[in-house]
Amino acid sequence: MNPIIERISNIGIVPVVKVNKIEHAIPMMQALYDGGIDAAEITFRSEHAKEAIEIVSKTIPNMLVGAGTVLNVEQAKAACDAGASFIVTPGFNAKVVEWCIENNIPVLPGISTASELETALSYGITTVKFFPAESSGGAKKIKDLSAPYQHVKFLPTGGIGLSNMHEYLSLPSVLAIGGSFMIPENLVNDENWEELSKLSRQAVKTMLDFKLTHLGINHENEEQSKQTAQTLCDLFNFTFYNKPKSKFAGVGFELLNSKGRGVNGHIGIYTPYPERALYHLEKKGVHGINETITRNKRTNKINFVYLDKEIAGFAIHLINPDLKMEV
Ligand code: 3PG
Repeated sequence: MNPIIERISNIGIVPVVKVNKIEHAIPMMQALYDGGIDAAEITFRSEHAKEAIEIVSKTIPNMLVGAGTVLNVEQAKAACDAGASFIVTPGFNAKVVEWCIENNIPVLPGISTASELETALSYGITTVKFFPAESSGGAKKIKDLSAPYQHVKFLPTGGIGLSNMHEYLSLPSVLAIGGSFMIPENLVNDENWEELSKLSRQAVKTMLDFKLTHLGINHENEEQSKQTAQTLCDLFNFTFYNKPKSKFAGVGFELLNSKGRGVNGHIGIYTPYPERALYHLEKKGVHGINETITRNKRTNKINFVYLDKEIAGFAIHLINPDLKMEV
């Protein structure tokens, strides 16, 4: 996968930004960045697009800046001269696509039908914008399109927000979601950058959806883990589960038969998108431990990974809720 496209996939959310006043460009993008979203598509729906792309690329170099609503080659060229790393178009525009291919610029042309998708494929493009997402059939349509076109990745935009983002993001064929829901115009007009930042943080929080799944406690041997599990089950009426390497008291306590990772044990955290979680956690200085990764055999997505961080003697692993303990 192209590294820019891969980064978009890991970021998971691409704000579609219209810059009405050039002096808003930096604080707006800084608010997104501070809220944990380090990508944006600056659209050519305003006359400031080129200048905004230029100053944001220079001032916030860690932000992945693309250009959106690119309607012709002149705009594509202007965007790239200004520093845009990728181009998004609302519909399939052959001239823009050809120019981007010639100039080695990742381009996500807009499609909403199988025929338009086939046109994209005929240019060797396998990553497309799905637009307008909600009014073109939503996540269900992407799912249906993915059946015949299994290698295609979609960036849906149009009508996506906190309440429906998982319908899209949970599809393996969805690269990331896009939209303007985290940058409502009234907040921009009021220059309420703090609130804007909060909305981005909320969007990332909703996407990663971290939840405690269990506390793992290390033991010297199986006899001891069994004893702890039985005590917890007796006291709190939890169900006892016997697993090959541990016992469980309910689903919330894992009593390991040995000294596992962590001085005292581990904390299990659910997230539906471990790749995206790792990307966002890396910005906080926490990384996944490669040799602990296990993957879904069909999708090759990460199911399980330990982090290189211990808290109070507890190691931490992420786990995909699809791997819910069978009870
Ligand atoms: C786009 O151009 O991608 C859409 O206009 C964004 O859609 P939204 O404003 O409904 O999020």
